[in-house]
Amino acid sequence: MARNKIALIGAGQIGGTLALLAGMKALGDIVLFDVAEGVPEGKALDLAELTPVEGFDAAYAGASSYDAIAGADVVIVTAGVARKPGMSRDDLLAINLKVMEQVGAGVRKYAPDAFVICITNPLDAMVWALQRSSGLPPEKVVGMAGVLDSARLRYFLAEEFGVSVEDVTAFVMGGHGDTMVPLVRYSTVGGIPVPDLIRMGWTSEERIAAIVQRTRDGGAEIVNLLKSGSAFYAPAASAIAMAESYLRDKKRVLPVAALLDGEYGLRDIYVGVPAVIGARGVERIVEVELDRSERAMFDRSVAAVEGLVEACLKIAPGLG
Ligand code: APR
Repeated sequence: MARNKIALIGAGQIGGTLALLAGMKALGDIVLFDVAEGVPEGKALDLAELTPVEGFDAAYAGASSYDAIAGADVVIVTAGVARKPGMSRDDLLAINLKVMEQVGAGVRKYAPDAFVICITNPLDAMVWALQRSSGLPPEKVVGMAGVLDSARLRYFLAEEFGVSVEDVTAFVMGGHGDTMVPLVRYSTVGGIPVPDLIRMGWTSEERIAAIVQRTRDGGAEIVNLLKSGSAFYAPAASAIAMAESYLRDKKRVLPVAALLDGEYGLRDIYVGVPAVIGARGVERIVEVELDRSERAMFDRSVAAVEGLVEACLKIAPGLG
């Protein structure tokens, strides 16, 4: 059986890490695409030279023309500009919207059957623009945010309780931004919901509130430390988990930015929700019950995403 083909649009910090992880996990052959001259070719060659050491067979290629992504099974998009200190994800909007229009046209032409995962920020607006400009079916175009946000929450909870990260689940919904909605009562340690652990005296409401805030600020914390760029290891690993669930039809339940069609009372908007990811892409959106305060947080987050999409429509009315 021929190997799958994975196209990475953007061969920067996240793109390079995606290429490494996709190869190490034997997901398929990898094409790195970028507009920065020599960068995709250089990274592809460097990675190809790693394959004998690590002992896996994957072809790596670098390209700056879209025909190289022809027939890709998965396309992961990180093309654009990353955040600098003091810059919000929204500041990136105008620059990255233009990039999404180019990428969408390339995907429409050369990889119309792919499962497309967008990482470029501001995420919920960029994945919307990518779906519009590519014209691919909505169940085949998703955004990566929730897996990363919930991984951050899982890590902080595991640290707090002194337990393995493997035994901590966490649940984050909503847009990928300061208004994301970490759902504490759906987060567990060994199956025990966090509110029960508070009652059991393992931690306090205040400490959990601080962890939730740290999760919300997780991206900025890293931007402020790095000073030149944003997080890349965990974002890349998160997108690879989504790609793997699609390619191997694992049907994992993952929080992803998906186009809603009536779920949560919303239509035609991309926002983070739990979804089953399998061979058909987004196979099912899970509609969990939200209590009044969770719903209020979710609505606030949705309003922020709607604001971003409106800003996109002002710049590119053709996407409407
Ligand atoms: N087409 C293809 N690639 C492009 C384009 C374009 N039109 N414009 C820029 N790029 C490339 C850049 O040349 C660069 O190599 O996108 C790459 C982005 O890489 P980095 O700057 O290293 O950014 P990275 O850390 O990988 O993050 C990428 O993901 O998390 C988000 O906010 C982050 O939007 C950012 C994106």
